[in-house]
Amino acid sequence: MELKEAIDARRAYRSFDPDPVPETLVHDVMERVRLAPSCFNNQPWRFVFVRSAGPLAAVKAALSRGNAWAQAAPMIVAVLSRRDLDCVTESPDRPAREYFLFDTGMATAYLQLLLTEAGLVAHPIAGYSESTAAEAVGAPEGMSVVSLVIVGRRSAEPSPLLSEKQRAGELVRPQRRPADELACIDRYPA
Ligand SMILES: Cc1cc2nc3c(=O)[nH]c(=O)nc-3n(C[C@H](O)[C@H](O)[C@H](O)COP(=O)(O)O)c2cc1C
Repeated sequence: MELKEAIDARRAYRSFDPDPVPETLVHDVMERVRLAPSCFNNQPWRFVFVRSAGPLAAVKAALSRGNAWAQAAPMIVAVLSRRDLDCVTESPDRPAREYFLFDTGMATAYLQLLLTEAGLVAHPIAGYSESTAAEAVGAPEGMSVVSLVIVGRRSAEPSPLLSEKQRAGELVRPQRRPADELACIDRYPA
């Protein structure tokens, strides 16, 4: 699969088969996400690939009610980071630029595309109890659980745990804003 195909194929699907994610794939992804860029090569992301029954159940206990569909997934990747692991750039007349979430997001995009290329769904979520998730993965004090990425093979059958809206989202990608609203050439539009 070419990169463009992986970008087109990536979707936040919510229906999963229970088949485990192969361990060789997990190790391949662990190696490759290391190549993501970061400020001063600080590499502020930490990923916990949760795939054994006990730890997985503990992370799933953190899911919000709206994310009940993720109970069926065979793997969850907890994405962790902390402000002091990366650049903080001060300017006198601008808010400080804190790069830990930016760089962690880039590495997480690599992770999603690698898993998509391997034929899996990798769906990041923000809807969970952070304290429960942090406890489940043993996050060190002060480390944020920035996202949980729900991973598994897409089921042909829509999950019975989906709301009507979520069911519709399995069939059609949520709309995007037009490209010229999000990006421009040479100067921000007046
Ligand atoms: C930071 C972040 C948080 C998200 N949180 C949730 C969530 O809690 N529950 C959910 O079902 N989807 C969540 N999503 C998925 C988005 O809703 C989805 O990516 C978006 O609607 C676009 O759909 P697509 O990824 O299929 O193109 C989240 C995505 C991101 C990047």
